[in-house]
Amino acid sequence: MAQGLRCLRAIADAYGHELTLEELPFGGAAIDLCGNPLPESTLNACLQADAVLLGAIGGPKWSAPEAKVRPEQGLLGLRKALGVYANLRPVKVHPALLSASTLKPEILEGVDLVFVRELTGGIYFGEKRRDARSATDVCTYSVEEVERIVRAAARLARQRRRKLVSIDKSNVLETSRLWREVTTRVMRTEFPDVSLEHMLVDSAAMHLIRRPRDFDVLVTENMFGDILTDEASMLAGSLGLLPSASLGEGTRGLYEPIHGSAPDIAGQGIANPCGTILSVALLLRHSLGLEAEAAALEEAVSKAIEQGARTPDVAASRDRSLSTSRVGDAVLERIRAA
Ligand code: IPM
Ligand code: MN
Repeated sequence: MAQGLRCLRAIADAYGHELTLEELPFGGAAIDLCGNPLPESTLNACLQADAVLLGAIGGPKWSAPEAKVRPEQGLLGLRKALGVYANLRPVKVHPALLSASTLKPEILEGVDLVFVRELTGGIYFGEKRRDARSATDVCTYSVEEVERIVRAAARLARQRRRKLVSIDKSNVLETSRLWREVTTRVMRTEFPDVSLEHMLVDSAAMHLIRRPRDFDVLVTENMFGDILTDEASMLAGSLGLLPSASLGEGTRGLYEPIHGSAPDIAGQGIANPCGTILSVALLLRHSLGLEAEAAALEEAVSKAIEQGARTPDVAASRDRSLSTSRVGDAVLERIRAA
């Protein structure tokens, strides 16, 4: 988060923008402070802001199975309160990182896809029940919820290669049968110029690593999108690289890396800052309408990576890797040099 904020300030300076930044407690930090992962003062500030940049949340301190209050509840509450139902997760393979992935370079070359994950519905938000002998999570989707996410994905596909893949589990789930029906209708009536392919989620998981280049825009429900985007991050080389933008009806958005808080490496100063820095770029683009600034920041990250500024998760070897703040320095230098 520190590196993301440094980059945001540097871009604002370079282009002569004045930003009002406010830092607020959230997640585990807020639980420690006041027992609530999403304090009312934090929520109100987010509702009034043009955009929210979010640090990854969670950690062993707050994850005991019997815990009643969890950082993740704050995140789901914030997504819902902001109405950000469309979660964009772009996956682009940087040529210099082809060897960082566990997959073969010739499969990865030229991969450029975007997941549009439904973010405020489905099993994440359904009723939950628990007794001594069983547990229940309910998955519900309404026609309206499917329509609006499919429209968001199709509009995005129109700006790209006009190829939409919709992912569901309609051979088993009723919500998926509704999803498929609604998607087919919306696409046929409103987006006849965008090609639509339906794919079952198990098959999509396979095709994603078999022929990732074939994908352009992928739209799917909340939990499938959560799982598949962690898988897709390995196309780019590391979970630490991927940014996300969560949008609703207006331009207000919530921006966060797709990774978690990585408690296994916490405090070592080696977390990859690129997921957060690239989320800042998405924030500039989608909420502030600053396309040139967004592109400049993306270019700075790309150049820094190309010239070897890499944390251990994407470095060729540990002794050729840099710390989180050194990678931040490298990006800042390129912003200032541009
Ligand atoms: C993500 C995360 C969250 C999610 C968790 C932290 C609740 O994994 O943004 O992908 O499942 O949505
Ligand atoms: Mn996730």
